[in-house]
Amino acid sequence: MLVREVGFENYVSIERNRPKNWTIIKSSDGIWSSVKDADEASSDHSASSAHFGYHYDGAYLPKPPLVCSLYCIDSGRGDTPTAFIDAHVAVNSLCKRLSLEVEDLELLDWTYIDRHGKLINAPLVQLHPYLDIPILRFGEQSGILAYKRGSSKKLDIELSHISDAINSTLSEQEKILQYWKDGDWMVWDNWQFLHARLATSSDRRRNLRRVWYDVKFDSF
Ligand SMILES: [Fe+2]
Repeated sequence: MLVREVGFENYVSIERNRPKNWTIIKSSDGIWSSVKDADEASSDHSASSAHFGYHYDGAYLPKPPLVCSLYCIDSGRGDTPTAFIDAHVAVNSLCKRLSLEVEDLELLDWTYIDRHGKLINAPLVQLHPYLDIPILRFGEQSGILAYKRGSSKKLDIELSHISDAINSTLSEQEKILQYWKDGDWMVWDNWQFLHARLATSSDRRRNLRRVWYDVKFDSF
């Protein structure tokens, strides 16, 4: 969902624009994160203007946010869109590509080491918490596939082949492209959609503000 000119300049306006029954989830940066090139070298490539592959936000949290939002403070050149793909459609496409069932993919975890050196483990396929449909949980930028601990069943297919198939599936999905204009506020379901920053070169002026929310099931 795209909203224009909501005003997101400070904590007061962010709080004022918060829909009823939404609660703000703090990230490791606080209430908001700046998504722009840092003045100094940073290891956090997610918060920059450089290309960043498909992922969901807050993978390092025990319960990643249901809703993510980005507010455009400065669109910079305006030629670096945020792309969204449907993570449920992606699961079905992946199964078709590999001739596997959803239950086969449920044997796997997606694991990666976060920027603080902590090992993150998440099921590759999860049920959407309120739509009850299988969705793909993956970070294209990093991570490897592994069988879930204790899983005795193995697939007749190399995990590296599945990883390659995931990357091909993600790149071929139908995309929604958000080319930013100053004042745009994009809000999306962080479970149903994976998102990426499609950049061909960095843009030091591009400046977005990211805020996460939790939403009560019956009020979404
Ligand atoms: Fe993100």
